[in-house]
Amino acid sequence: MASPSRAAGRRVVFFPFPYQGHFNPLLRLAGALHARGVMVTVFHTDLRAPDPADYPSDYRFVSVPVHTYVPPELVASEDIARLVMELNISCAAPFKKRLAAMLAEEVVEAGGVRCVITDVIWYSAQAAARELGLPALGFMTSSAASFRSFMVYPALIEKGYLPVQAEENKDDPVDVLPPFRVKYLERIETSSLADFATLLEHRVDGARRSTGLIINTVEAIEAVDLDKIREDMCVPVFAVGPLNKFTPLVKSSLYQLQQDHRCLDWLDTQAPGSVVYVSFGSLAAMDPHEFVELAWGLAGSKRPFIWVVRPSLIRGFESGDLPDGFWDEVGDRGRIVDWAPQDEVLAHPAVGAFLTHNGWNSTMEAVSEGVPMISRPFLGDQYGNAMFVCHVWRVGVELEVENQLERGKIQDAIEKLMGNKEGKEIRERITNLKETAEKSIKDSGPSHTALLNLADLIFSL
Ligand code: UDX
Repeated sequence: MASPSRAAGRRVVFFPFPYQGHFNPLLRLAGALHARGVMVTVFHTDLRAPDPADYPSDYRFVSVPVHTYVPPELVASEDIARLVMELNISCAAPFKKRLAAMLAEEVVEAGGVRCVITDVIWYSAQAAARELGLPALGFMTSSAASFRSFMVYPALIEKGYLPVQAEENKDDPVDVLPPFRVKYLERIETSSLADFATLLEHRVDGARRSTGLIINTVEAIEAVDLDKIREDMCVPVFAVGPLNKFTPLVKSSLYQLQQDHRCLDWLDTQAPGSVVYVSFGSLAAMDPHEFVELAWGLAGSKRPFIWVVRPSLIRGFESGDLPDGFWDEVGDRGRIVDWAPQDEVLAHPAVGAFLTHNGWNSTMEAVSEGVPMISRPFLGDQYGNAMFVCHVWRVGVELEVENQLERGKIQDAIEKLMGNKEGKEIRERITNLKETAEKSIKDSGPSHTALLNLADLIFSL
């Protein structure tokens, strides 16, 4: 811990984007840098505020007012690209105003603020920081491969890979982005592909103008993509993942959901490697009949399970009604929770499989705990993450990305992963990947070194 005099001038402003999958990794990065002497100020929107009680007492929190309508439900808005651009527009001025006010105070405190670290999705905040003369570093919450796909997005459209044309070309290799096949390319439901492309261009452009790009990934796992990014960008690139292993828990759910710790007591009563953990992160939504198929798929698997059914998981409904007879079939074999302590669940020895949407945080968390996956992506980078999990690292089985959930396929996938020879090989490979991730965060491992280099860069600014 830095002494008070050395601590002067070690303050960094972190500005996470107000979605759980963006918020968690940036707050974890803040924690990892705090442990290395950085003084932390978290700017957050007044839409969704973290609870200061969940963080070290010397963290400061600054609320930034937002005047954009953001749907109260947890799912992504239909037009997420437009929403993100509107948030950027409405946040730029209030962010700048509060940052300027803080800078005026910090001059008195001596040393001032070293830099701002924002999600690359907050490109307007990065620009605002630069306008005030502060260095800005960009943070990518998803993979290096995903960032690379942002870099070639115009070429993907120009060459006709996007929009994905249902059947004709979905399995074609993508020549500008190996090893991608068309169906795994990043995309979201949006009224305008052009808007989405513009949004990605802003992110890449912001990173190019930044003082450095920080990615929550592991050098040895994404070496090819990291090299390509470094070839193309003239800024230092730091691979500092898996951040969940540097900073264990971010307790707050941004959506005021309580983590249900009772499921951990129940896990203690289950056999090692026997439980399927089912969670689709904070944004994905499924149709009501898929919810029913999933319920019967889990019931029919005969395996114990924990299933996160958060509000708005079912498209158009606040909560989900389980089918009649579900609990008669399942009995004490299953637990349903609103929100799980996911890190602890995945680290529990009873958990043997993770049915996931492959959000990047969930993917990194599963890799770092050595839990094999059943992949069912829903949007954005999740398709590409699932491709790496199932076809490149081969540590999971895929539920076809373009098909709806079906009970028989869910049961087959669970059986494949937890039962037979193929499952054994998958489990061996995820154990190896876990070891790679573990080595990276040990003293003088690549992520550990990258974090120290990042801290050095910050203190040199
Ligand atoms: C989305 C994208 O898919 C992701 O790749 C991108 O980087 C951020 O936005 P999201 O849908 O929220 O993310 O999924 P994910 O990236 O997996 O993040 C969810 C976070 O919430 C994880 O850190 C997970 O541990 C946490 N979580 C989820 C809980 O703590 N409890 C739960 O019950 C479910």
